[in-house]
Amino acid sequence: MKEEGLSQEKILRRINRILGNDMNYSSGKILGSMCTKPLRFTNTIYTHHLDKNLGDPGLWVGTWSLERDAIRMIGKLLHNPEAVGYLVTGGTEANLIAVRTARNHRHYYNTKNEIIVPESAHASFDKAADLMRLKIVKVPLNEEYSVDIEAVKEAISPNTICLVGIAGTTSLGTVDDVKALSDLAIDNDIHLHVDAAFGGFVIPFLKELGHDIRDFDFTFEGVRSITIDPHKMGLGPIPAGGIIFRNSEVIGTSYFDIPYLAGGHIRQATIVGTRSGASVIAMWATMKHLGRKGYREIVKKCMNITNLVARGIDEIDGVRLVRNPVMNVVGFTSDVYNIYKIDKELRRRGWAVGLFPDMIRIVVMPHVEECHVEKFLFDLEKITNKLVPEPTPFHVYART
Ligand SMILES: Cc1ncc(COP(=O)(O)O)c(C=O)c1O
Repeated sequence: MKEEGLSQEKILRRINRILGNDMNYSSGKILGSMCTKPLRFTNTIYTHHLDKNLGDPGLWVGTWSLERDAIRMIGKLLHNPEAVGYLVTGGTEANLIAVRTARNHRHYYNTKNEIIVPESAHASFDKAADLMRLKIVKVPLNEEYSVDIEAVKEAISPNTICLVGIAGTTSLGTVDDVKALSDLAIDNDIHLHVDAAFGGFVIPFLKELGHDIRDFDFTFEGVRSITIDPHKMGLGPIPAGGIIFRNSEVIGTSYFDIPYLAGGHIRQATIVGTRSGASVIAMWATMKHLGRKGYREIVKKCMNITNLVARGIDEIDGVRLVRNPVMNVVGFTSDVYNIYKIDKELRRRGWAVGLFPDMIRIVVMPHVEECHVEKFLFDLEKITNKLVPEPTPFHVYART
């Protein structure tokens, strides 16, 4: 920092110049992100409340009451009006909180140390295991790319504290058999956490639209906690993740006492202290504004475009879908060309897709329009026509 500050005009000019290097959602080139542009209404509300801190909720009791109401709305979406929880920094923090809560359960605190996750689990579970010094057991997937239930059964040991099911995997959007996981969790008295960071704001609306997609929520007795992220398909601002518990009993002994706050003593089970009130207010407003109908329409449009992408990929020689999309996520690979080279060529043309072992992932978020997808398919076909045949060196998604 220099001794003398710069004028605001100079700073704004510099910011505009530097941020010219950022990508933007309106270009339609961001095809591999689970975040999107919030509504203008959401952004306006967010920017009006930047000073609100839910790390000290006694000062911001109105904001705090909106958080409880937002959690109630999300709880109802997940078939549990009794749900409690927090809006936190994102899916990673939500998953950390869930695993910590499972680890702290009175039946196994300090005695058991293993968590069982599908191979498709997000890296946040590796972070949780690393931070809490837990053993992470990764269970293979079946031919549908959801977790192999028999393998989960075999992996359960006297040391298991937590099973994880995914509702909307990061790579392909698949949904695990949460009913079967719930039965296993009940039989073995294990915490079942469902990571619906992405699928939580998609699956309920797909069901309302008549799609045949698995249930994943508190309908199943064994589910003790769910991650569901407003800043993904909830169209909330960043940061906004959600951790929802079946009831306050599940949080059990996982509260920290925070006595020094200006607003008075609180108990808190989040990882971070200072927390965005603006995100909570903006998210509450977004859910009130869109209603189920609004979300349903957004999900319907995303699914229509997803089907266009899937059909388009299917029609291009040399590439193939890894599986038919279950939600607005499409994974494709190639037996003819090296998928890593396809990724490189797409990036050279400005396409920001997601690269997973052996496949490219596209997420059709609300900012993706039909015209963007048509341009993408045109480029993909051009790339495959130019590339020299050289099969992908498969590691994971080798099954044909
Ligand atoms: C299923 C799943 N869980 C958790 C996360 C982590 O979310 P965040 O990036 O908000 O921490 C992601 C991110 O894509 C995800 O797909």
